[in-house]
Amino acid sequence: MLTQQENEILTQVGPGTPMGNLMRRYWIPAMLSAELAEPNCDPMRVRLLGENFVAWRDAEGRPALFDECCMHRGASLALARCEGDGLRCIYHGWKFAADGKILETPNYRQPTVREKLTAPVYPVREAGDMIWVYLGPREKIPEFPSYRFLHVSPEHRGVKRAVIDCNWVQSLEGHLDSSHASILHKDWDPFGKVSANQVRLLRGGIDIFTEDDAPLLEVEDTIFGFHTAAIRDAVEAGKRVGYARVHAFALPFMCVVPSGGFTFEVPIDDEHVNLIGVLCNPARPVDRSKYLALTSPREYFSEWSDAGVLHYAGTPNNRWFQDRGRMRRGESFSGIGGLTVEDASVVVSMGPVYERTKEHLVPADVAVIRMRRLLLRAAQQLQQGIEPRMLTAAETSCIQAADGVLRDGQLWQDLVPDNVAIDQTARDDHADLVVAE
Ligand code: FES
Ligand SMILES: [Fe+2]
Repeated sequence: MLTQQENEILTQVGPGTPMGNLMRRYWIPAMLSAELAEPNCDPMRVRLLGENFVAWRDAEGRPALFDECCMHRGASLALARCEGDGLRCIYHGWKFAADGKILETPNYRQPTVREKLTAPVYPVREAGDMIWVYLGPREKIPEFPSYRFLHVSPEHRGVKRAVIDCNWVQSLEGHLDSSHASILHKDWDPFGKVSANQVRLLRGGIDIFTEDDAPLLEVEDTIFGFHTAAIRDAVEAGKRVGYARVHAFALPFMCVVPSGGFTFEVPIDDEHVNLIGVLCNPARPVDRSKYLALTSPREYFSEWSDAGVLHYAGTPNNRWFQDRGRMRRGESFSGIGGLTVEDASVVVSMGPVYERTKEHLVPADVAVIRMRRLLLRAAQQLQQGIEPRMLTAAETSCIQAADGVLRDGQLWQDLVPDNVAIDQTARDDHADLVVAE
């Protein structure tokens, strides 16, 4: 559990907050490329970290991110005219290029403003079917990341952006919480589940069965954050083995899961998050519509597009779409269909910003605890003038997840050969947060 003050530091991301300052030191995936569909497209309102922006592509196809309010007297640039080489504010006609150059100020003929000022724009990059932005101090801009999914061809990748109406930490905790996978997602069938609790791992033609809902969890700090391993008792050809799933967490909000999934919990503000999901399969093309339909059935979303832009619509009023009849008839464990939807339902059900002062943590929550500690430490250190450890592009390319069978004393670390463990303080400084067993 956290104190109220720690909970506020962890969850609040607006300008000037400790966590907001930390996040603004990283490249952030802000939207899907498909959302700015063509050169000179309509400007799009974008809310990130509690601030409002406008995204646009110029006639050359260059993406740009502006402060939403026009630098003259604040009209929204979402209303602006698109003129190919720039956006023209409709109030007094000031016109701004994608790089912030002020092209025209029709109500002020002198060149002074055009020559001396630039419009508030931010560094933008396009990679992996997404548009990434950097909102921090220019002199602190880090190398652009080189995550593995950025290096596969587009057919081998599926992306989506789902808006979930709750604080970003709730959603992130779900992705770090291995022990819920075989409980909340009992109905989900990613590997060819053979019965209610058995998971069959299709790897090299070998069948592995596990019914273990209480895996042994280990966390190991790395330069990017940590690896967490969930090791379940399993049976392979009649012999007991371990089945390990190793996840990665990278500051400030990226998780990598063994099936080739990358997630980014990008805060819109303190009560809404963009869950940006990437499915990456270097071996086979990804069937994007199947990926969307399986994880995010349309009926649970107020917004749902083939491009992968979604808005989860569950609220207390519609009881998060739970179908009690299906539960009673034994047809569904959760009464909710689809992986993303089950996750969204439970995290939204916690309320807009969950108060972590009343929870009761157990050892199964070790990765959640570690994430909170690392983020709180980094945010508080930055407040004291201690810079976060930013990764080089090459270091970001090493972040990976994996799953596999552990035979004859094999270590889970062998499944993630680029795992570089650092100072093992994990077990010490979360000890006080776990309830006594
Ligand atoms: S407010 Fe935009 S030009 Fe005046
Ligand atoms: Fe989940």
